[in-house]
Amino acid sequence: MDNAAALTIRPAGETDLSPFFAYLDDHLRDNGADGTPLFQPIAPGQPRLPAGLRIAFIKGIDIPVGQPGWRRLWLAIDAYGDIAGHIDLRGRPEPAATHRAMLGMGVHRVWRRRGLGRRLLETAAQWARAETDVDWIDLEVLSENLPAVDLYARAGFTTVARVADMLRIAGISHDLSYMTFRLREG
Ligand SMILES: CC(C)(COP(=O)(O)OP(=O)(O)OC[C@H]1O[C@@H](n2cnc3c(N)ncnc32)[C@H](O)[C@@H]1OP(=O)(O)O)[C@@H](O)C(=O)NCCC(=O)NCCS
Repeated sequence: MDNAAALTIRPAGETDLSPFFAYLDDHLRDNGADGTPLFQPIAPGQPRLPAGLRIAFIKGIDIPVGQPGWRRLWLAIDAYGDIAGHIDLRGRPEPAATHRAMLGMGVHRVWRRRGLGRRLLETAAQWARAETDVDWIDLEVLSENLPAVDLYARAGFTTVARVADMLRIAGISHDLSYMTFRLREG
């Protein structure tokens, strides 16, 4: 199987979270490794995702959309039942911004550049249009993460700001880009 079109993308439930966290810990090994860009705002070589992020998934998956802390996750599954990629949407922290969601995603290293990122973005956007009142999807991306910035731009996201020296990770300065996508007219 070499085409991402053959992968199944489905919403994740509670029982998916344990294998998902193992997949994320493995995914994190690519963060800034061998000259690849940082994609998580944490130092390269950190072995595990921050505990707070795990808890946010565990709690958020059961919270109704629109209520504080909500989060939804989709997984791309290969022919062996392994996770090939993921995308998640979550509510923003500002109580007056329930019409907007934040996005996170990743594709397993062996599945990159085969159109899976594009499919995952379409899945999340379709769900948000059909099942929620969310009008905008926002995201933050390290500006040097050109694969992600390019993927989002080609999917219709607009860069609304690039903040120089927003993050200092292991003593190195990084710019952070803010991108947004309008799902429908508000
Ligand atoms: C960014 C990422 C999700 C892209 O996933 P993907 O499945 O490889 O993306 P696709 O195959 O759907 O690519 C779609 C488009 O994105 C752009 N793109 C993807 N990877 C790219 C790369 N390495 N270099 C340049 N452009 C790239 C291209 O425009 C591509 O279209 P094309 O292949 O027709 O040229 C993947 O590289 C990844 O998981 N990176 C690490 C985690 C990460 O950065 N997550 C996002 C954090 S904000």
